[in-house]
Amino acid sequence: MYVCRERIFMSERDVLSIYADAEQLSSAAAAYIVEKAKATIAEHGRFIIALTGGSTPRRLYQLLAASPWREQVEWSAWYIFVGDERVVPFSDAASNYGMAQQSLLAHVPVLPTQVYPVPTELGGAALVAERYEETILEVFGAAEHEWPRFDLILLGLGSDGHTASLFPGKPALDEAERLVVATPHGVLPPPVERVTLTFPVLNAARAVAFLVAGADKAEALRAAYRHLPLGDTMIVPAARVTVPDGELRWFVDEAAAMGLK
Ligand code: 6PG
Repeated sequence: MYVCRERIFMSERDVLSIYADAEQLSSAAAAYIVEKAKATIAEHGRFIIALTGGSTPRRLYQLLAASPWREQVEWSAWYIFVGDERVVPFSDAASNYGMAQQSLLAHVPVLPTQVYPVPTELGGAALVAERYEETILEVFGAAEHEWPRFDLILLGLGSDGHTASLFPGKPALDEAERLVVATPHGVLPPPVERVTLTFPVLNAARAVAFLVAGADKAEALRAAYRHLPLGDTMIVPAARVTVPDGELRWFVDEAAAMGLK
């Protein structure tokens, strides 16, 4: 199990919890997601989640795919998206969907008709983004809100302060109309085009959970959580995820939290 070493509250809904290491962070995040899914399904009959990519969530996904969490989840009520994707084949090691498939989706009884990978096989990033936006709108139907409201969006944090594929200095940061846009890569690898949910969608979510582990994230986490500059980036992209009408949770390990002390 896991022991939360400290909780830092920005408000009653914005909670940052510090865990000894990535394993404990992943266990705590798994428990949070299972509980969130149970409550959401009880209330709405379905749970619409956007997974994050990168390496940090792999352990979380493996935990969700195994006991005790696997059998606690009503997988058939899950609708699964990917919050951002590298425009590469799913078989490519850089594919976020490929990682989620290997670590989670291939091991749990989700309904394939309720799993929505980004259609990178279509080729150009702009077309891929357009199609994915259409898919999101189809699944949400005529949303009663201006923006489709994901029940939970998982996010990571890059050492440059990016989140999803919203990179410092890129036009995607200013997108105010589209749900999904294409974007060139940032300074961090892999150097491939990306497709990403935009800030209006992230901030419309009912809940967002950041997963942040490792000393290399300490400066970026400080900038993102405290809304401080990072190098010559005055406001890092992750700091712009504020979820005004939802819950914002940070699951971090002690190494990443060193910058908060
Ligand atoms: C991506 C991810 C990205 C990731 C961060 C952290 O497609 O690259 O969605 O936003 O979450 O870069 O990645 P790590 O977990 O590998 O540090």
